[in-house]
Amino acid sequence: MRKHAFSPFGVILWLLLIASTVIVVILLPRTLDSYGQLQTEQNATPTPTANVESMLLITADPNHIPTPTPLILRTGSQGEEVKRLQQRLLELGFYTGLVDGQFGQGTAEAVKLFQAQHGLTADGLAGNDTRSLLFGDSVSTYIPTPVPSPTPSSLAMGDKNSAVKALQQRLKDLGFYTSSVDGDYGAGTQEAVRLFQSQHGLAADGQAGPETLAAVFSQNAKKVVATPTPDPALLPLLINADHPVADGYRPSNLVNLRKTLPASLVYVKGSEIEGDKAAAAALQTMFEAARADGVTGFQISAGYRSVGYQQKLFDEKVAEYLKDGRTRESAISATKLTVAVPGASEHHSGLAFDITVQGTIFKGTPQQIWLHKHCWDYGFIIRYQADKEKITGILAEDWHIRYVGVQHSIIMRDQNLCLEEYLERLTQ
Ligand code: DAL
Ligand code: ZN
Repeated sequence: MRKHAFSPFGVILWLLLIASTVIVVILLPRTLDSYGQLQTEQNATPTPTANVESMLLITADPNHIPTPTPLILRTGSQGEEVKRLQQRLLELGFYTGLVDGQFGQGTAEAVKLFQAQHGLTADGLAGNDTRSLLFGDSVSTYIPTPVPSPTPSSLAMGDKNSAVKALQQRLKDLGFYTSSVDGDYGAGTQEAVRLFQSQHGLAADGQAGPETLAAVFSQNAKKVVATPTPDPALLPLLINADHPVADGYRPSNLVNLRKTLPASLVYVKGSEIEGDKAAAAALQTMFEAARADGVTGFQISAGYRSVGYQQKLFDEKVAEYLKDGRTRESAISATKLTVAVPGASEHHSGLAFDITVQGTIFKGTPQQIWLHKHCWDYGFIIRYQADKEKITGILAEDWHIRYVGVQHSIIMRDQNLCLEEYLERLTQ
């Protein structure tokens, strides 16, 4: 049998030969040509290669003419134009990273800084507007903004910083502060803090400690409750050594306390003890409230005193000290600390009362504790307190209460002001 000239194996070999010829002679140059075209385009349009898809599109269809889109460099962009952008941002101080042609987070931040400083929307996209400003004449170098110092945990009078500013702004928003937000912790800020504290159950010391700061910036912070500005004509009467009453002074609305107050409610020690009518009514309300709290057994041992009677008390005390061997001068100075000089006693007003408990020292009794806690709510103040001795000139007296009216007593309690301090603030 004659051997066939073209075996199947030979045919395959021939076909392979023809195919490789076609590839080498016809197709390869075209592929290389396409590659060259891509290179040419890449060089001509320094568009970041992130836009590879559109380039492939152009390569695939040489007749496609792209509509020119404004060049926007953004995170992910790469190439020479990004390098140029980074270089410029670096020169101007906005960028501190590598000039590597890779538009990353650092470049975006630099673009944002640049935009913000040049009145552009700080979106981190380097479009035409951004780039023309960047490479234009009216460009300015980076102006660093001061880094805020770490928030202090406590602020007080005399502090000047951005944390004080934030505190003032917050207190202003809540209605406690009305002055300028200047970052200076002065008397106005102190007053606002005090008011905030007093209305939030905090010790009203006017200092913004950690607890106060937390309360101020808490979501539970309450808006100011307006306290009415007291009518100057209705200010509490000030009687002290510098403000004595005239010799013949006698208040007009005195009532006999034994006859006015129910004996079952409070024991009035002297049958002739008098007091101001409104103050007597406030005493009754207060002792009724104490009784409702289970606290009874109060005694009123002093009320209104004439100047003559005060003179008698004063002289008796001086005599006591003289007996102890003191000089007259020393006896008088010692007396003045506990018995007001005639004319300078609050008892002349009928608004002051000495509250005691029969047969025991008042200090430490449930009655004294209740009185000191609650008398303010009924318009009374603890007139002579230990921390105010230098101002009042009188040693602390647990028993001596003074009626000033609830609109004043509440503020004096909340702001820890004695009468002298309170009136000075109101009349400043
Ligand atoms: N004991 C007070 C100060 C007075 O004498 O009025
Ligand atoms: Zn008294």
